Amino acid sequence: MPQTHRTQVAIVGAGPAGLLLSHLLHLAGISSIVLERQTREYIEQRIRAGVLEQHVVELLNDTGLGERLGREGLLHHGIHLNFNDTVHRLDFNQLIGRSITVYGQHEVVKDLVAARLEAGADIRFSVADTAIHQVDTDQPAVSFTHDGDSHTIECGFIAGCDGFHGICRPSIPQDLLRIHERIYPFGWLGILAETTPPSDELIYSSHDDGFALYSMRAADVARLYVQCAPDEDIANWPDDRIWQALGERLGSAGGWSLNKGPIIERGITAMRSFVAEPMQHGRLFLAGDAAHIVPPTGAKGMNLAVADVRILSRALETFFASGDEHRLKDYSARCLARVWQAQRFSWWMTSMLHRFDDNDSYGRRLQLAELEYLTSSKAAARSLAENYTGLPFDEG
Ligand code: APR
Ligand code: PHB
Repeated sequence: MPQTHRTQVAIVGAGPAGLLLSHLLHLAGISSIVLERQTREYIEQRIRAGVLEQHVVELLNDTGLGERLGREGLLHHGIHLNFNDTVHRLDFNQLIGRSITVYGQHEVVKDLVAARLEAGADIRFSVADTAIHQVDTDQPAVSFTHDGDSHTIECGFIAGCDGFHGICRPSIPQDLLRIHERIYPFGWLGILAETTPPSDELIYSSHDDGFALYSMRAADVARLYVQCAPDEDIANWPDDRIWQALGERLGSAGGWSLNKGPIIERGITAMRSFVAEPMQHGRLFLAGDAAHIVPPTGAKGMNLAVADVRILSRALETFFASGDEHRLKDYSARCLARVWQAQRFSWWMTSMLHRFDDNDSYGRRLQLAELEYLTSSKAAARSLAENYTGLPFDEG
């Protein structure tokens, strides 16, 4: 039987953007329904990046989501840059008095789902055929099917938080969107391994053979990445090849040792920079990966999604309190100002640290000169630290 539901904001997608938006709206007394095409188990296990900017940690703490994060998150005051057989530590605390926290994105998702369900939220998992309607009127709607039944949500607004491959962005007439995109000629092969990470802080390694990154999830769980071809078949990377590449690219300059251990998860991520402008059409607001993608080198993806929904929740709060639309009208421009800063930073980190197959010796020397400058000039190091730990939130 077709069923009709009513809510103030229909949210498509239960990633960090959709779930946090639903949480922030709830705190402001605004109702929402979240639609997710995957199961709860799937989204709670999907391994993604894991660096939270200081502002994001503060926001999660301030909105009652910081309990497990405070216990299990790993507070880091700096990172290492490893190149040319030398290793340099950038001390964020000393440079700008700020820090980051390493905490897997799926852990944030678990905390959000738990908090939302405890507050009685309406989150519908395993939905299909999601479609959005009448976004250029003030009575938009979302239709979907669930367990074979058809449903319609009538709402005031739709939040398109359905990631890069969702349906919301493609629902906007293509002549109204400007797409800016860069696809990189490499990807990352990422593994999660049951072993002690080589260092207690992240190591970004630029090596002639390609980039590698040493991160972690816990004292006995390492998260490691090696640069590979964008369309690489993971079958070409048996365990031995992965450990060998990681060992070579880590080198010995830091006195670290790479401890092999059982690989419990592996996957390949292609690298892309992407922005769709504007992030709004009528009563549809895009947030997070639905509107923009960054390569993971700057660890900005989840942080940008959080910044978008903070701005959106404030704008909706103002609208529902007073009918004042000015913040909603400013939404796209406000988000995009920050998005382009993160695009610049992520592109810059990516360009500096990876092997480009068409790079001549001049190009490689420029990358190394950039790294030398960064690790010898306080001004340059501060610039990295400021962007890495997160530019200030625009709370409007
Ligand atoms: N209907 C319902 N849900 C959908 C649909 C659909 N048609 N299409 C996609 N989804 C869901 C996806 O299954 C996913 O759970 O939308 C969710 C989008 O979540 P994310 O991809 O995590 O995107 P976002 O919340 O914007 O978070 C951005 O995720 O990809 C990482 O690096 C990225 O860290 C960044 C973060
Ligand atoms: C991670 O821990 O998964 C991670 C850390 C830093 C990055 C990307 C991913 O830049």
